[in-house]
Amino acid sequence: MDWGMKNRLSQLIQKDGKALFLPIDHGYFQGPTHRLEKPGETIKPIWQYADALMMTRGVLRNCIDPAISKPIILRVSGATTVVGEDLANENLVTSIQEIIRLNASAASMSVFIGSKYEHQTLSNLAKLVDQCEDYGIPVMAVTAVGRELEKREARFLALSCRVAAELGARVVKTYYCKEKFEKVVDGCPVPVVIAGGPKTETQQEVFDFVYDGIQKGAIGVNLGRNIWQTEHPVAAIRAIRAIIHENFDAKEANNLYEQIKAEKP
Ligand code: R5P
Repeated sequence: MDWGMKNRLSQLIQKDGKALFLPIDHGYFQGPTHRLEKPGETIKPIWQYADALMMTRGVLRNCIDPAISKPIILRVSGATTVVGEDLANENLVTSIQEIIRLNASAASMSVFIGSKYEHQTLSNLAKLVDQCEDYGIPVMAVTAVGRELEKREARFLALSCRVAAELGARVVKTYYCKEKFEKVVDGCPVPVVIAGGPKTETQQEVFDFVYDGIQKGAIGVNLGRNIWQTEHPVAAIRAIRAIIHENFDAKEANNLYEQIKAEKP
């Protein structure tokens, strides 16, 4: 692996082999998502606890201070919305020149396996990998399910992660599943990070699945709503960070969460 690729990957994945990515890209298909109406404000108290931030070029240019010292994972697929016909009909919407110009540490796009647009999104992944590898930029593939949240089970996720890695993704983002998550990770030759999905009822549920996912081989998370949509985003991200980087279990993380919540701002 060339120096540039190694250098970018080491900005994203820390020395302990783990990673906490904070995504704020949801507006690219949902518009002004709850608590992400002003992305720059949303991340102000929490960005420092993340290892990297994920967003589109529009949010990066308009809402993020260029002096920020955090690696950026640039979302480069899109062109569909929640009110449109089919979320899976995504294309590449950002050029390799833009990825380089914005000094991204990685590029990221969604693949919709099992959908009508499987071939299109997988071909786009291969294209993006070819363009990015020329410049030593890692691609993180997002194994998306669109509105079909029930697809989040081990066989589907394992297939999606493996295919994304076979096409050249250097990191794969997928969902956690309670049953046989280890099969998802074991069948994927590149590091796997877990997305959070819609906000859970309790914070403990998040700590439970993050902890279990890490035990089963995930290197970390790319987790947004279950941090910045909560009542206590700082406490939430710090507790998740403790699971990822300080070997806290889910109960210890919840105790830390309660302790930080109780502190005066
Ligand atoms: C959706 O595809 C977005 O790319 C998000 O980055 C991803 O779903 C992770 O965010 P959350 O934890 O809110 O699901």
